[in-house]
Amino acid sequence: MSDPTRPTGAKIIAVANQKGGVGKTTTTINIGAALAEQGFNVLLVDLDPQGNASTGLGLDSAKRDKTTYDLLVEEAPISEVIKPTNIEGLLLAPATTDLSSADIEMFSNEKRSFLLHDALRQPDIDQYELDYVLIDCPPSLSLLTVNAMVAAHSVLVPLQSEFFALEGLSQLMLTIREVRQSANPNLRIEGVVLTMYDKRNNLSLQVESDARDNLGDLVFKTVIPRNVRISEAPSYAMPVLGYDTNSKGSVAYRKLAEELIRRHGQAL
Ligand SMILES: Nc1ncnc2c1ncn2[C@@H]1O[C@H](COP(=O)(O)OP(=O)(O)O)[C@@H](O)[C@H]1O
Ligand SMILES: [Mg+2]
Repeated sequence: MSDPTRPTGAKIIAVANQKGGVGKTTTTINIGAALAEQGFNVLLVDLDPQGNASTGLGLDSAKRDKTTYDLLVEEAPISEVIKPTNIEGLLLAPATTDLSSADIEMFSNEKRSFLLHDALRQPDIDQYELDYVLIDCPPSLSLLTVNAMVAAHSVLVPLQSEFFALEGLSQLMLTIREVRQSANPNLRIEGVVLTMYDKRNNLSLQVESDARDNLGDLVFKTVIPRNVRISEAPSYAMPVLGYDTNSKGSVAYRKLAEELIRRHGQAL
């Protein structure tokens, strides 16, 4: 059913960092909302068994009848998995805790690293006319994250502005290099975004200057401030852009999305 050679029109971006709590899900949801606000058609793929992106977008687990688990393990048609959200233009392939066993179940499949790649290239995805697919990865470098990197054109890395932030990065870069050498030679690093940034805190400034010294232009100019509205939004089942549209967090995520669009040179 799927044809892995078929190109897809959408830019596919994996949001990855094996550390938990660094802002992957928040960044995925809010870049997704900001791109949708700009008129792009966006699919958010929840690849974390915790399903935080699905909950944060207000999809009750009862409504997650078909999920990314079915997509990867049962090779379900993607049109059965994709659900609308309350945000116009933002679609969701949800996850539930089922996904925690996917790693083991996918392992015996000889296409194990290509399951998401193939799923996102099924012909029935064309009906959505997607411009962007954003994949919210789990906090590990497991087979799920490898599937995201094999499926993607690029990897976007949220980096929490705290001590040791850069330490985990070499492991992540190593995984990206391995994926390039094996399955996806064209995989790019979209960029590194500093999250939970506090300009009054010396540590944030230090992490930023270390990141810019070491990674140069790979670091997005936009930094995401630590902002309480960002952390409140998921309990209202909304991106911060919907919850408090003029908050510092919303403004920052809009700027980040604009930077991303400029890098792709494909504003509408
Ligand atoms: N810029 C921010 N300001 C304040 N809180 C944030 C910010 N970004 C993320 N958070 C909060 O930090 C926690 C971890 O963020 P999350 O996006 O779930 O990380 P990850 O997906 O990497 O585990 C969540 O409670 C989230 O609401
Ligand atoms: Mg998460």
